[in-house]
Amino acid sequence: MATATVHPNIALIKYWGKRDRDLNLPSTGSLSMTLSHFATKTSVVFGVDHDEVIINGEEALGRPAARVLKHLDLIQPGRAPAKVVSTNNFPTAAGLASSSSGFAALTLAALKALNIDHTPAQASILARQGSGSAARSIWGGFVEWRRGVKEDGTDSHGLHVAPPDHWNLNMVIAVVDKGQKSVGSTEGMLRTMATSPMYSAWVSSWQRDLDQARQGILDQDLTMVGRAMEASTLKMFATMFTSNPPIRYWRPASVAIQDEVAKLRQDGINCWWTMDAGPNVKVLCEPEDAPAVADALEHHVEDVHTLAVGGHPVVED
Ligand code: PMV
Repeated sequence: MATATVHPNIALIKYWGKRDRDLNLPSTGSLSMTLSHFATKTSVVFGVDHDEVIINGEEALGRPAARVLKHLDLIQPGRAPAKVVSTNNFPTAAGLASSSSGFAALTLAALKALNIDHTPAQASILARQGSGSAARSIWGGFVEWRRGVKEDGTDSHGLHVAPPDHWNLNMVIAVVDKGQKSVGSTEGMLRTMATSPMYSAWVSSWQRDLDQARQGILDQDLTMVGRAMEASTLKMFATMFTSNPPIRYWRPASVAIQDEVAKLRQDGINCWWTMDAGPNVKVLCEPEDAPAVADALEHHVEDVHTLAVGGHPVVED
């Protein structure tokens, strides 16, 4: 039996689209910040009577359970029956990146339970195949996920850009809706790729955003990171809005918060927003500005969390 506790990550530069669906190879590179406080804790034990998956205290059935068990088959083909118990201390499948910490924790706990030696990059490659963004949750701090060019995906894994203590940043999260998202990310990506006329522009224009965000992180330049993050976010949503049928995760409160962030910036508070496959808005700022940002967001939603840069996964026997 082994247990892994892993933090989710939020993409500052987005992954949206797959160059290989089976291997979860991305069409673009991406870059993320690991979050503090929010975490998935997953225990795996092999050699039980039958496969069993418990998520947030309830037996998982259907697709969620099948995804977990398929992932264990990938880690060890022909494996013994396993029991997986996984708990999130934050909303699941609501655009708060639970699949990133979920599949990273499952990968690390299973590798430990099976005593399989691995490098972080190897763990990242396995985690990626469960859920793309999980490739980035193998590290704390700031992480880049290389697009890679190889067909077998061996060069498409996370890379540590900067450790958790490199830069004391905050992400203030406005939970507009904690319900499960309407369109899952895989379905959304496939629809976007198949139908959006903007998709080719997205795939040909991400590199500059990523280079600027990486440099901004290394230089601790929030304006540089924020500009690149908002550009990447808006381009990703442009591809979704122009899909057929359109994908629109935004709600009125999401847009009101975007306006609020623009207003805060006019008032001299350096803060920048991003969103993912859901209506929640995440705002990046310096810790000294986080209380003012949180106050402003509380005018729009009840549930606001101020999180810092999260640490590395913890894996125990
Ligand atoms: O890892 P997935 O399949 O849940 O996709 C994540 C997609 C976004 O959150 C929208 C962007 C990202 O890079 O995390």
